[in-house]
Amino acid sequence: MSLKKGRVFSGARPTGRQHLGNYLGAIKNYVALQDEYDCVYCIVDLHALTTLETTLDLRNNTYEMALDWLAAGIRPQESIMFVQSQVPQVTELHTYLSMVTPMGKLTDLPTFKEKVREQPQNVNYGLLGYPVLMAADITLYKSHLVPVGVDQAPHLEFTRETVRSFNYRYNTNVLIEPQMKVTEFPKIIGLDGQQKMSKSLNNHIELASTPEETTQRVMSMVTDPARIRRTDPGNPDVCNVYSMHKVFSSADEVNMVNVECRRAGIGCVDCKKMLARNMNASLAPFRERREEFARNPDGVWDVLHEGAGRARAIAAQTIAEVKAAIGLAE
Ligand code: TRP
Repeated sequence: MSLKKGRVFSGARPTGRQHLGNYLGAIKNYVALQDEYDCVYCIVDLHALTTLETTLDLRNNTYEMALDWLAAGIRPQESIMFVQSQVPQVTELHTYLSMVTPMGKLTDLPTFKEKVREQPQNVNYGLLGYPVLMAADITLYKSHLVPVGVDQAPHLEFTRETVRSFNYRYNTNVLIEPQMKVTEFPKIIGLDGQQKMSKSLNNHIELASTPEETTQRVMSMVTDPARIRRTDPGNPDVCNVYSMHKVFSSADEVNMVNVECRRAGIGCVDCKKMLARNMNASLAPFRERREEFARNPDGVWDVLHEGAGRARAIAAQTIAEVKAAIGLAE
């Protein structure tokens, strides 16, 4: 047993190359948690099946995401990094948990209602069971802490209730009630200066993009809409370029931008150039590591397979305990 504080579990759908929003909102936190916890990070490809129209890119997206996680600093010798479908016990636990899940609870979830609105032509059984599968993810590894965005709060609450129902129903304590750890990070706004950064809106900057692409994207960012001419004073408080400076630039530079923008001392073009330079400088070590990993794609898959092996060992143990608690034949 390790001396760390407990087990962290988190999952993310295989969305391919990760962008700044993914990094600042989740991955960075995954990396930091490794110092204090035993971490299990899962690429949830089964969850992705509930909404995907095509699975043509699924494998490649899984690979690209794994590459980004490794380059960002997930340490596979310490942490377990794996693909959900390679640990089939999760589907078994999903079935057991489904027996203590009232239908109405699932149909009432805001996340489910939203999906029904989004994809009325594809309201499948898997979609309804999405939170049950997520509860299975978390409990299969007896996780204590789950770092997720605040949008996942209903799913975490569902998981906690399901644990209580299961343990009560079978008079056991095999399943552990996890704590949610809300990832506190200001929402990363996309290049449009309006909406959350996302791949589907194409308002994102990929971690793995080249310095040239990055600069080009930064130059296209929407700034304070009231600042039309170079001579107009701007308002950094409503400008996403300024928000990004706070992430990527030094305190002195942030201060300078804040002062000079307000009195039209610096123009948006120069301000963006400065941001692009700083962004590229801070992404450079990541990109170098990514290229190294990318030279050996089999090595990336090896990491995932090895992670799945370690995950299956934990899963097998939990399933044995769960079956015994239920009273199923050995
Ligand atoms: N539902 C999560 C999301 O959309 C992804 C996920 C699946 C997850 N299983 C999980 C997150 C387990 C945390 C723990 O972001």
